[in-house]
Amino acid sequence: MATTGKGYAKVIIFGEHFVVYGLPGIAAGLDKFVTVDAQKVKDSNDIVVDDKVFNEKISREKNPEHIKFKLFDAMFKDEEFLPKKGIKFTINSNFPAGGGMGYSAALCVAMVRAMNSLFDQDWKEEKINELAYLGECVAHGNPSGIDNTCSTYGTTIWFEKNMEGGKNTIRPIKCGKSLYFVLANTGIKHNTKEAVEDVKKFKEKNPKEFDVICSDYKSIVSHAKKEVKFGGMFEIGKLMNQNQALLKQIGVSCEQIDQIVKIAIYEGALGAKLTGAGRGGNVLILCENEKFQDKVINSLAGKGFEAIKVKVS
Ligand code: PMV
Repeated sequence: MATTGKGYAKVIIFGEHFVVYGLPGIAAGLDKFVTVDAQKVKDSNDIVVDDKVFNEKISREKNPEHIKFKLFDAMFKDEEFLPKKGIKFTINSNFPAGGGMGYSAALCVAMVRAMNSLFDQDWKEEKINELAYLGECVAHGNPSGIDNTCSTYGTTIWFEKNMEGGKNTIRPIKCGKSLYFVLANTGIKHNTKEAVEDVKKFKEKNPKEFDVICSDYKSIVSHAKKEVKFGGMFEIGKLMNQNQALLKQIGVSCEQIDQIVKIAIYEGALGAKLTGAGRGGNVLILCENEKFQDKVINSLAGKGFEAIKVKVS
């Protein structure tokens, strides 16, 4: 019998890159997800993956070094009694990979959930999140954990990485009012690992400047938390613009992101910033209501950018 696991897409509303250094972030799970179907294959020593997203069929016996098997090994290495052969996975997704929506984290969460059901493990959410994080470490090197957390819980959260290696702070946030976002695609696939490494280099080269940027960001995110709870969308928009200015300073924006931000603000959006690692991927645009969402989407389409509506509550 096949079992299915789900991992949610996410948007980071405030805090990409800063969360890596232990500063807080605000992110939301979306109603979009990766699904992994898993089934036992009798008398097989192999693991096969039918990946419908990347359109590839891979076998562990033939291709043990494939990234998906590396993820698998990292996530389940300490689960001594878990069978690690005779499995077929089928991967599907209703959102794109490489666009800053947390695809790799959603894949890890979905795979962990599929294994949980297939082998009756009874893992709780916290454990699922922890295992998915191990997979994220393979995909991204030094992830903060915000992606897999959002992907696991699927809600809006306040997130702080514990820099001492203990439990991260994860608090659900109830939005005072629904937030009407547009997610606009730059059309450029981003590279999270590279962007995170470059920010590290920036920090090492400009320690004083980075400190000032972090302290500016800290006041932005603590103000944002209050406004998200209160439903102060005009303030949230302004804070997003300020967050974007800091992201530009640390070098993770790009021409296309800047262009999308400019178009959105011209069309009356309340605020806009990159979301995820940057240098491509998606731009998150806050609109007052659905009318403005349509206006922004139409204007972006005229310039060749695809965009979708996303509501966060
Ligand atoms: O590229 P994404 O959407 O997976 O987002 C990564 C977020 C970063 O803050 C840049 C990295 C991290 O681990 O938090």
